[in-house]
Amino acid sequence: MPTLIQNGTVVSADGQRQSDVLFEGETISQVGPNIPSAGHTVIDASGLLVMPGGIDVHTHLDMPFGGTVSADDYRTGTIAAAVGGTTTVIDFALQSRGHTMAKALETWLGKSDGKACIDYGLHMAVTDLGPGDGAQGLAEMEVMVRRGISSFKLFMAYPNVLMIDDGLMFKVMQKAGALNALCCVHAENGSAIDIVVAQMVAAGKTAPHYHAHSRSTKAEAEATHRAIAIADMAEAVVYIVHLSNEDSLRELKHAQQRGLRALAETCPQYLVLSLEDHMPGKSWDEAKYVFTPPLRKKHNQASLWHALEDGTLSVVSTDHCPFRFADQKSLGKDDFTKIPNGGPGIENRLQILWHFGVNSGRLTPERFVELCCTAPARIFGMPQKGVIAPGKDADILLWDPNRAYTISAETHCMATDYSMFEGWTVSGNTRHVFSRGELVVKDGKWIGQTGRGRFLKREANAGGLA
Ligand code: URP
Ligand code: ZN
Ligand code: ZN
Repeated sequence: MPTLIQNGTVVSADGQRQSDVLFEGETISQVGPNIPSAGHTVIDASGLLVMPGGIDVHTHLDMPFGGTVSADDYRTGTIAAAVGGTTTVIDFALQSRGHTMAKALETWLGKSDGKACIDYGLHMAVTDLGPGDGAQGLAEMEVMVRRGISSFKLFMAYPNVLMIDDGLMFKVMQKAGALNALCCVHAENGSAIDIVVAQMVAAGKTAPHYHAHSRSTKAEAEATHRAIAIADMAEAVVYIVHLSNEDSLRELKHAQQRGLRALAETCPQYLVLSLEDHMPGKSWDEAKYVFTPPLRKKHNQASLWHALEDGTLSVVSTDHCPFRFADQKSLGKDDFTKIPNGGPGIENRLQILWHFGVNSGRLTPERFVELCCTAPARIFGMPQKGVIAPGKDADILLWDPNRAYTISAETHCMATDYSMFEGWTVSGNTRHVFSRGELVVKDGKWIGQTGRGRFLKREANAGGLA
């Protein structure tokens, strides 16, 4: 039976309207006032906001990293996403050096198959183009795009693991540009950072907060500048991931003012957590906040919020890369270089952005929808997602803007034994979530089937800027 959502306020990136939403099967069929209810299952959305399901374009589920594997697999990670109001994620498949991209794709589809609970896409992290001139790898990029992997990830950090050099980056970007694919870049000068890290360790500076002090905003800004410049040379669209500070923002803004095709995201942790408050250098507990780029000084937050508002930054993602405190972060108890880098946030993105963004007046509800739902769908080639309109997937979030919720590891769905936002009470939370027309979260609780999520073949559309 078709489902009719009545009495809610539909929030889109371009406005708010009192509208009903009707969907049949997996697809929205009608949006407008006073849709007759006869023959429909009716959901009363009085007092609720009706928004497109959230899209988180930066997650690391079941990913080997830092000597361990991220704690959420596709089941726990996507359930946590859905409970937090997100109906689509784009995760990263990592190509291992000496192996093909096809192998990485097969591995990641193996991890997600039968487990993913919401729809998901994959970026391909390229580390190797194969022997000689790289023709084999470049040909594989074409295959990837045909298979719906329309974005490639390039790491300028993590030497000897994921980092590539500028020549390889240029080659991949040239090919991506020709394919209309997007180049996602982790922008930090990994070689310089590694020298600082070695100097710190030699000086006995091994506590968690030295991780942050070894990775300066200058190292991030330099790589941001370089990534954008190389993408410009290669005629590709570049998307800087997890931009964390105002030095990098300055590089991005400058490029955009010159008309370069450069986009970027930031993440909740950089908007609301800081070096001063969460990493003062007092305890091992600070390992909970060891992620890369690291926490920054508080003054950066205002610039990031402003850039979200004025459009310099296009998206808020999470960079969800969860590790348990007790037995995973502890790998680096005596040496910060061995602490697995990453933090858990897939469940809290919308809560944090609503509470600190919308409730505080920094963002309108429309801008919230643009940053968390509509822009991610547009930039990453998912025309069926991110908008409430006839013909689109019925991925619908019923959001209660007044629901108070206290974030805690005791109650969250993520597989970590801690929360980065432990004990914070936020106002605004998920009530119900539909994923392709199916009620999967009811009154804030997951009720869907494990494995129901589908792999999304995404379009190569040059980040929506073509
Ligand atoms: O600390 C982080 N961010 N871990 C995940 C890998 C990455 O750099 O995104
Ligand atoms: Zn990264
Ligand atoms: Zn990441």
